[in-house]
Amino acid sequence: MSLTLLLGIGSTPELTLCFVNNKIAGSQVNKAIYQTARQWLFLAGAGLLSSGCHSVYSTAQSSANASASDTQPVVASANRALPRIQTHNGRHRLLVDDKPYLMLAGQTNNSANYPHALDKVWPVIKQLNANTLGIPVAWEQIEPVEGEFDFSFLDALIAQAKAQDVRVVLLWFASWKNNAPHYAPAWVKLDNQRFPRVIDKQGKVLNSLSPHGLNTLAADKKAFSRLMRYLQEHDRDHQVIMVQVENEVGTYGSKRDYSATAQQIFEGPVPQALLKALNKQPGTWEDVFGKHADETFHAWHIGRYVDEIAQAAKHIKPLPMNVNAALRNPFNPGDGYSMGGPTDNMLDVWKAAAPHIDMLSPDIYFRDHRTVNKVLSLYARPDNPLFVAEIGNDQPYARYLFDTLGFQGIGFAPFGMDYTDYANFPLGAKTVNDATIAPFAEIFNLFRPMQEAWAALSYQHPVYGFSEAPPHDESQQIWNAQDSGKPTAGEAEQPAYTQTADLGLWDVEITYGREMFWINPPTGNQPASGGVSIIKLSDSEFLVTGLRARVTFTGSAELDGQPTMIKRVEEGHFEGQQWVFERVWNGDQTDWGLNFTDTPHILKVSLATYQHH
Ligand code: DGJ
Repeated sequence: MSLTLLLGIGSTPELTLCFVNNKIAGSQVNKAIYQTARQWLFLAGAGLLSSGCHSVYSTAQSSANASASDTQPVVASANRALPRIQTHNGRHRLLVDDKPYLMLAGQTNNSANYPHALDKVWPVIKQLNANTLGIPVAWEQIEPVEGEFDFSFLDALIAQAKAQDVRVVLLWFASWKNNAPHYAPAWVKLDNQRFPRVIDKQGKVLNSLSPHGLNTLAADKKAFSRLMRYLQEHDRDHQVIMVQVENEVGTYGSKRDYSATAQQIFEGPVPQALLKALNKQPGTWEDVFGKHADETFHAWHIGRYVDEIAQAAKHIKPLPMNVNAALRNPFNPGDGYSMGGPTDNMLDVWKAAAPHIDMLSPDIYFRDHRTVNKVLSLYARPDNPLFVAEIGNDQPYARYLFDTLGFQGIGFAPFGMDYTDYANFPLGAKTVNDATIAPFAEIFNLFRPMQEAWAALSYQHPVYGFSEAPPHDESQQIWNAQDSGKPTAGEAEQPAYTQTADLGLWDVEITYGREMFWINPPTGNQPASGGVSIIKLSDSEFLVTGLRARVTFTGSAELDGQPTMIKRVEEGHFEGQQWVFERVWNGDQTDWGLNFTDTPHILKVSLATYQHH
């Protein structure tokens, strides 16, 4: 029997220790991995390491065609607490190493899932100040031949992520990648009999796998389970903190599968679990859902498919799991979107279908403030932690981190953050260069030093987020944001460059684009880039931070006209979750509101009323 531990860089085993009856029979020790050797010796001495040879390989050593022996536990590594999501009173947090964790992430372009490409990834992640990397792993790369597994990419990824001190969200590109099985192995893609595709109403075979294909489900589940077993055995420190199951599941061009198999199920009764979740009376899909029957049916079955995969995988390693959504326009959806995915109208169906999925996550490529905020409001729910799994990497999107945090978001991942020579304009930026990365790096730089404190406080206290909403949004015509139309009468129209909100005893006003001193009216930043996030620590105490915005607190109606004052404004920073006082802001720094510039400032603001007679 042999065990491998993948460490360091090189191409030959750097350490081989053979044990016979818990004694070393032979060894080659390289000094750099002396520590590991010592750990192994300890384990051997304790009788925890079985007889046989145990080798330390370089990360370049492929674990291609992994055999059963490769899937044995790697015993010589630490065992930290599993990353997990906690929800209490409808509020959420992610714990990593048992500490609250805000994912300030970057997602790579699609084809960055090879060791060769990683060199083009890390510089951007570093420049971005990201603590987390979202990166695909493809079914076609781990199981190119049925039943033969190759985890060499993960060997490289995990070792390098550890060296970079970056955590990873792995994206399982398998049965669905933006509707299609592009990332499934050829033996799946070429066998339509065994792995059937969706058939549309006219009988046309679409390039989207059917969720009713039981062989497909079994094969995907087997591969995904092997992936999770790999993580369970080779990633004992949980460099991978979360796994996304599939990518933008759903089907373009048909509301569901109309094959004979699917039709037979469609004519049967709606499952009890769905009826119960939606509080509906029994009947066929058409009886219960009327004109929404086709889409609901497809969503339910994709949800069940994904859930079955996730359930099996969590049985092996229960990491948090999410499913990302190709969004429909929330104001004017039409029917050209990816049907069957967790679009906003299908969230309740998905929640019932996929209880092993922790989060349904929006992929945001709307550029305008109104549509983005609508999407955030739809995906931030007491039963659904908000994780912006993708957002465009162009400048206008960066400020939406402020809004995301206002919806209690646990993570935010601009997409296409690498130098692999691809740019997905008009969704994202035209090119990926220093200027593209800078606006995201700036806002990550603001939150990164307090990410743990923010995640902890956001779990306990009300949060608010604001970002600049220019009146004439130059980006309205890009992608399908034009479908959003104008604000309805019911939606408050705020004066341009000024936003207000009622925070209880206090109201807050945010203004954009004005000098720090005096009352000249705001004119907005060019381009729109300002924003503010606030945590209400108690009735009259707020943690406030922002960029390029002025924040002013005034007494709310509840204070009944009593005169108000600033009691104290502390500037400081966090060490872990501990507030560290730096100085008091007073005089000019508070007389004209609290002015946030391009430089990070974190303020703790205490407000009070004073006696006037
Ligand atoms: C959303 C998908 O989830 C991504 O993988 C990518 O294809 C983008 N769309 C477009 O660049």
